[in-house]
Amino acid sequence: MSIKITWLSHAGFSLDIDGVKVLVDPFLIGNPLAPLSPGDLEADYILITHGHGDHVGDSVKIARRTGATVIANNEIGKWFRNQGVHNVEGLNTGGSVATDFGRVKLTIAFHSSELPDGTYGGQPNGIIVSTKDGRKLYFAGDTSLFMDMKLIGEEGITMALLPIGDYFTMGPDDALRAVELIQPEVVMPIHYNTFDVIAQDPSAWAQKVHNMTSATVVVLDPGGSYEL
Ligand code: NI
Ligand code: MN
Repeated sequence: MSIKITWLSHAGFSLDIDGVKVLVDPFLIGNPLAPLSPGDLEADYILITHGHGDHVGDSVKIARRTGATVIANNEIGKWFRNQGVHNVEGLNTGGSVATDFGRVKLTIAFHSSELPDGTYGGQPNGIIVSTKDGRKLYFAGDTSLFMDMKLIGEEGITMALLPIGDYFTMGPDDALRAVELIQPEVVMPIHYNTFDVIAQDPSAWAQKVHNMTSATVVVLDPGGSYEL
């Protein structure tokens, strides 16, 4: 089973899991680092961690064009239906749903969540993407460090995608502690350098993680890909 992970910058990803196209938090319009336009992206599924504009991004437009199934929490699911997006799975924290590539589960995240028009977005989430061959990708979403990352790690995380930007989420030091709790095989820093307030040096973070943990660190440029 092949998993190709393309970073759309910020918290956005385009995954190709054995030909199934999965977007996570696609935010391109208004994103100074975006390597692509929304029209460039294909999608069978669109996964949304929480309601903020830098995560919902261009997903309404992409879902309308592609007919992709949006997977998010109940409140965000309702909001998508109100935008005319009809293929929606509105889960809640701890719940999961079967997909063509495996399963998607929502985890806790410590943050806030309001949709771009001010609608309440429910509790923010992290997302675990499980493939049929048993590999797991943990998209932490926007979050602080929290102790239950250890529980998430006990599932056996193949790759963790962790924010390091600080200001809106955990910063580099807490993200390093997150790697120690989760113990993923591979880790990638996200949610940095998009805006001045979240400027960080991913290479310096990668060196620290390399020195302190056994995880393989992947640092991509926007538009870059990694194959698992
Ligand atoms: Ni946010
Ligand atoms: Mn964010």
